[in-house]
Amino acid sequence: MHDEVANALRSGKPSLSELDKLPILEAILREGLRVFSAIPFLEPRQVPAGGRVLNNYFLPEFVFSSLISVLTIKTTVGIQAYTLHHDESIFPDANTFNPDRWLEADEETVKIMNRSFWAFGSGQRGCIAEYLAWLEMKIAVAMLYDRFRTEIYSGFKDEEMELDDQISSIVPISRRCMLIFKSWD
Ligand code: HEM
Repeated sequence: MHDEVANALRSGKPSLSELDKLPILEAILREGLRVFSAIPFLEPRQVPAGGRVLNNYFLPEFVFSSLISVLTIKTTVGIQAYTLHHDESIFPDANTFNPDRWLEADEETVKIMNRSFWAFGSGQRGCIAEYLAWLEMKIAVAMLYDRFRTEIYSGFKDEEMELDDQISSIVPISRRCMLIFKSWD
């Protein structure tokens, strides 16, 4: 990644569209968001009026309805990024952080992987800032890794990076990620 980023930054100030087209940087960020999604749990949606058939199941509009609207309960369904991102049939060895899976897969496989990539949700309630977030991450990581390389601190254990579900977002269970930054100079 360092070589890719250093090449792009050699000109001084790369345009955002240039930064957006760096495959290794993209693969590393995408894989990070796959394994460690910021919102890994259920993203709820209400079933629309009249209900819907989904995968041969009829989902009713209401779990319970009555003439008094306060007693009416609409059906809420949802899916979670964690489940999609850890589907072994799509992401073999799903718990392993492996950016190469995005770089080495053929076009059709990447399409299938992207269909199951749900770090930003989708549809009407999907993240409104997805593209802004991609650019922010690309700028920050490119700037950082152009100047530094990182090593994992020897006292830091893999288990410390286990996910800790925080309801609205996730952080490593140890609340820390210990890296040593070394300048390329
Ligand atoms: C890596 C960074 C980010 C990730 C992974 C992320 C992820 C998400 C996810 C999963 C949702 C729920 C989508 C759904 O229910 O389908 C969401 C919603 C939302 N995000 Fe982000 N987000 C990121 C950055 C941002 C930033 C930088 C902003 C604002 C500048 C932002 C603003 C919002 C808003 C306003 C919603 C609610 C949209 C709605 O309910 O209509 N997000 N985000």
